[in-house]
Amino acid sequence: MATRSPRFKPSHRGAHPSIAEKLAAKARAREETGENVLYLQVGQPSTGAPAGVIDAVNRAGARSPMGYSGAAGMPELQERLSRQYRDLYGAEVDPARIVITFGASGAMLLAIIGCFDVGQRVALPQPFYYGYRHAIATLGVECVLFETSMENDLQPTIADLEAIEGEIDGLIVASPGNPTGSMVSPARLKELSEYCEKRGIRFISDEIYHGIVFDDEKPQATAASYSDEAIVVNSFSKYYSMAGWRLGWMVVPDYLVEPVSSLAHNLYLCPPAPAQIGALHAIDCREELDQHVERYRRNRDIMLKGLPPVGFDRFTSPHGAFYLYCHVEHLHKDSVEFCVDMLENANVLAAPGSDFCPTSGQHYVRFSYAGATDQVEEAVHRIARWRG
Ligand SMILES: Cc1ncc(COP(=O)(O)O)c(C=O)c1O
Repeated sequence: MATRSPRFKPSHRGAHPSIAEKLAAKARAREETGENVLYLQVGQPSTGAPAGVIDAVNRAGARSPMGYSGAAGMPELQERLSRQYRDLYGAEVDPARIVITFGASGAMLLAIIGCFDVGQRVALPQPFYYGYRHAIATLGVECVLFETSMENDLQPTIADLEAIEGEIDGLIVASPGNPTGSMVSPARLKELSEYCEKRGIRFISDEIYHGIVFDDEKPQATAASYSDEAIVVNSFSKYYSMAGWRLGWMVVPDYLVEPVSSLAHNLYLCPPAPAQIGALHAIDCREELDQHVERYRRNRDIMLKGLPPVGFDRFTSPHGAFYLYCHVEHLHKDSVEFCVDMLENANVLAAPGSDFCPTSGQHYVRFSYAGATDQVEEAVHRIARWRG
């Protein structure tokens, strides 16, 4: 196979491999030499979809052709999600405002294409979920990165927004966040959504880690409760443990339903039918899914106990998701080199912060505790032996 063509070249849009992917390749190469590596850089549950989901999809597969659905998804799923907004948050969301998508990633693409023209500016607080930065830029929209502070758990405040130079047209906030696991309080979420609504800034709330929340001190809240102009992005990838099913949803203002659905139709026709049938049942599998959350909580507590004594003692408050974002500047000047050292000396792979933040990511490392508890225990043990 040719590795380069003399006449054709790829566009510049694809030129953004993540550092974490390169390190994962390094880790796999180590495994081929017989080493046992623990992968704490992963951003997905280690469990599969709930048993009830598999069962429902098998049954549906036997009696239905599972053809295209409408572009905005199956009405039963829109209605079920609407009911869930009422049950979980006391929020009234018209089912017609819920668009089912290809994961949160698909929802974000539709939100960006559907709300902004080329050249408009969308603000992304640092650190951020890696994929969004390049996806936004690829669509011709300017991604305006801005600083947040450790005092605010690396989540944005109005003061951070006001420090941005020039006008912005949109703002993305993720709570619980990736890579931080930290959350914005309901009061702050309300403040941010109202601030944005007043100024004509489109507020996009990424709520993909909702459900994986540990502390009553920082409860989850949805932007759908505070602003009808906000776009809420969510997914079945995390709490529902269905990452590879590629299904998510978005809540949009009523006047965006038609343009967003028509974009979805033109781009990919509709979200996948088997995943939608599975998702409909996943919403009723809370008992099984809450057991995963309990495991994440146990895993988090193992890290909180084992890592600070060996130098990982400054991190954002891990109130949700399954990440611990640690400040490691005092341990090494460069987190990529630090992660390589950790891989080579402890056989543990973590994600360097550089993927999540170009300005201070070199001082941070993200540990994921989404895996099995014995693996998290063993990883902490290996790190302690290496650092101790
Ligand atoms: C904050 C955040 N948003 C969005 C996504 C994309 O998720 P999905 O699998 O639903 O496309 C991820 C994936 O890790 C994420 O961490």
